[in-house]
Amino acid sequence: MNSTNSTSVISSDEGIQIQPQAFVANLSTLSYQQDILCIEDVDVDSLVQTYGTPLYVYSKQAILGAYQDYDDSFAAIDHQICYSVKANSNLSVLQILVQAGASFDIVSVGELQRVLAAGGDASKVVYSGVGKTQADIKAALEAGIGCFNVESVTEIERIQQVAKQLDKVAHISVRVNPNVDAGTHPYISTGLRNNKFGIAHEDAVAVYQQAAEYTHIQIVGIDCHIGSQLTKVEPFIAALDKVIELIDALQQIGISLQHIDLGGGLGVRYIDETPVKIADFAAALLPKLQALKLKVFLEPGRSIVANAGVLLTKVDVLKPSEHKNFAVVDAAMNDLIRPALYQAQMAVLPTVLPDNAKAKYWDIVGAVCETGDFLAKQRHLSLIEGDILAITGAGAYGFVMSSNYNTRPRAAEVMVSEDTHKLIRVRETVEQLLDNEKSLLSLH
Ligand code: LLP
Repeated sequence: MNSTNSTSVISSDEGIQIQPQAFVANLSTLSYQQDILCIEDVDVDSLVQTYGTPLYVYSKQAILGAYQDYDDSFAAIDHQICYSVKANSNLSVLQILVQAGASFDIVSVGELQRVLAAGGDASKVVYSGVGKTQADIKAALEAGIGCFNVESVTEIERIQQVAKQLDKVAHISVRVNPNVDAGTHPYISTGLRNNKFGIAHEDAVAVYQQAAEYTHIQIVGIDCHIGSQLTKVEPFIAALDKVIELIDALQQIGISLQHIDLGGGLGVRYIDETPVKIADFAAALLPKLQALKLKVFLEPGRSIVANAGVLLTKVDVLKPSEHKNFAVVDAAMNDLIRPALYQAQMAVLPTVLPDNAKAKYWDIVGAVCETGDFLAKQRHLSLIEGDILAITGAGAYGFVMSSNYNTRPRAAEVMVSEDTHKLIRVRETVEQLLDNEKSLLSLH
């Protein structure tokens, strides 16, 4: 990176300098109060003292605010905001969204069980994913799932078979692959012909015709999801146009739909990206959507929770040298894999405002035995051992992608609301990690 569009971030060949106060001014729920970072009205010190580190912390107001933003922006049309559970599936996060009236997008029976445990209604759930088994379909039908977003002919045949056995009628939507370039990281681009997702645009009408023949299937919708962390609205419009062509073609052969589902994918600002705002995204799509006279579903994940969350981590060891400065922190790639997996850049903020005179460029790394174990590279920070750092944008695809690699127990999670905080996931212990194996050790 060698340019910036924000005064809070300066990117150069040397690295990234973030001006903490100006940076958090863009995030509704973070602020520095008496030079200490606060999430809503709770300061990081009290969180670290109470729960330790590494610690995921989420803001209830930020989650509700983003959900409400979608709900309000699409108010002109009948709609369902199906929060994509994979982005952050903590039960307390889901419960907040259930109470706000959200619907849900799931990709596994495990996620369905989470939605139900959080008090969600199965009839407001859409079930996406390329590999649904007969057992998955059975469990979803028994729970009364709202709609299967189907991704293959095999899946349609399986749904017919299982629904018949259960004497139920399954609602389906065909996920169309519109062959549109989302312009995002290749690992999270899903709407291109050579991605594994959906049914090719050219084949979709024939697949609908086949589905229409089945006795225990009711066609209710059409859907697409072209990728994640999209910052521009144009690819969404290109995909919508392709889907509208199909809706017209289906109408001509007597297949009419009740809803159109545009998936998720709207991006967020991690460092200095300028993603289209939810309201502008809606305003760009609404004229075309209103003309369709169908109910609109959306499946946002990241844009609801990413900037509601931070990962707090303690600087354990500083290793400055002539060539490179490493700050080894107590979070690692097992806690937050996005930088290692997608070369994602996320902001690292001091939690106490430092004297910048002593700042240097540091690589923020974990203690896992891999060179790929980094959380951020070349960040201009003034550090001493024991400092607490906050990685922002960590509310989406953070904890949910964490693992126990290197036998590291996973972090605790906390929800903040105004001046209160509450543990929403207990920190794992090493004993728990060994339990599933210990009882199986042979005695000789
Ligand atoms: N609907 C479907 C069918 C999806 O596959 C996804 C995300 C979403 C909705 C939600 O997309 P969002 O609004 O969150 O962009 N782990 C990656 C992101 C993977 C996204 C997978 N699918 C990351 O950390 O960037």
